[in-house]
Amino acid sequence: MDNNGAIPVVQTVNLAKRYGEGVGTWALRGVNFSVEPGEFTAVVGASGSGKSTMLNMIGALDRPTSGDVIINGKHTSTLNDEGLAALRGDTIGFIFQFHYLLNEFSVLENAMMPLSIRKGGASRDELEWVKHLLAKVGLADKMKARPTQLSGGQQQRAAIVRALANQPKLILADEPTGNLDSQNGALVFDMLRELNSQFGIAFVLVTHDDRLAQEAERIVMVEDGHIVADYDVVKVEEEFKSV
Ligand SMILES: Nc1ncnc2c1ncn2[C@@H]1O[C@H](COP(=O)(O)OP(=O)(O)O)[C@@H](O)[C@H]1O
Ligand SMILES: [Mg+2]
Repeated sequence: MDNNGAIPVVQTVNLAKRYGEGVGTWALRGVNFSVEPGEFTAVVGASGSGKSTMLNMIGALDRPTSGDVIINGKHTSTLNDEGLAALRGDTIGFIFQFHYLLNEFSVLENAMMPLSIRKGGASRDELEWVKHLLAKVGLADKMKARPTQLSGGQQQRAAIVRALANQPKLILADEPTGNLDSQNGALVFDMLRELNSQFGIAFVLVTHDDRLAQEAERIVMVEDGHIVADYDVVKVEEEFKSV
């Protein structure tokens, strides 16, 4: 893909992951995958095919058994755990199926968490950025509320803002709509799409919902630890039309 010479936000090289010793379980068996800045990719595949493992490796939450993950040009295999955590904190945001908001804190405090736990804390501009995002996802009047006072969809939107707090280049989302009904799921998905186009943040999103996947720019299919298909949604749709 032509990306004006920008380096991929993430690239994997023969990425393999085995859980356990000896034969163990090979969850990934040689994955070569890269994400260009601003791309919106859906990852689909059966349960147990390796999607979450792939996301965890891409996000440097866990180390591969072999192969390498290059994040924003940095080979993660050369970094110690501290260096890895710093690179993650600067570059990547995470959204999970369950929001993991902390109920002892307000919505605003939860969304600020990635910034406030950093050495030096958050700047005034960062606080304004997070407030702006909360307003953007429709939570302007919920900033002081506790997470349990929100609906499921609102909680997931607060978690989305938390993932965006550090202004990441890449957001990894593991079934972010999996715990929502289809209407709220579609709302959250649309919001991710909008954040992607407005801020140019790349997304890699695992979903079970084929209809949502079709709304991505690119679909990657995972089967038994391999990528078995990787295609550009728009291009395929145009080819269909021209048949
Ligand atoms: N922490 C773990 N320990 C052992 N096996 C695991 C672990 N996590 C995942 N697996 C195994 O790795 C394979 C891929 O799992 P996963 O990446 O969670 O797939 P998916 O997200 O596509 O459902 C499965 O066989 C799963 O049982
Ligand atoms: Mg999974």
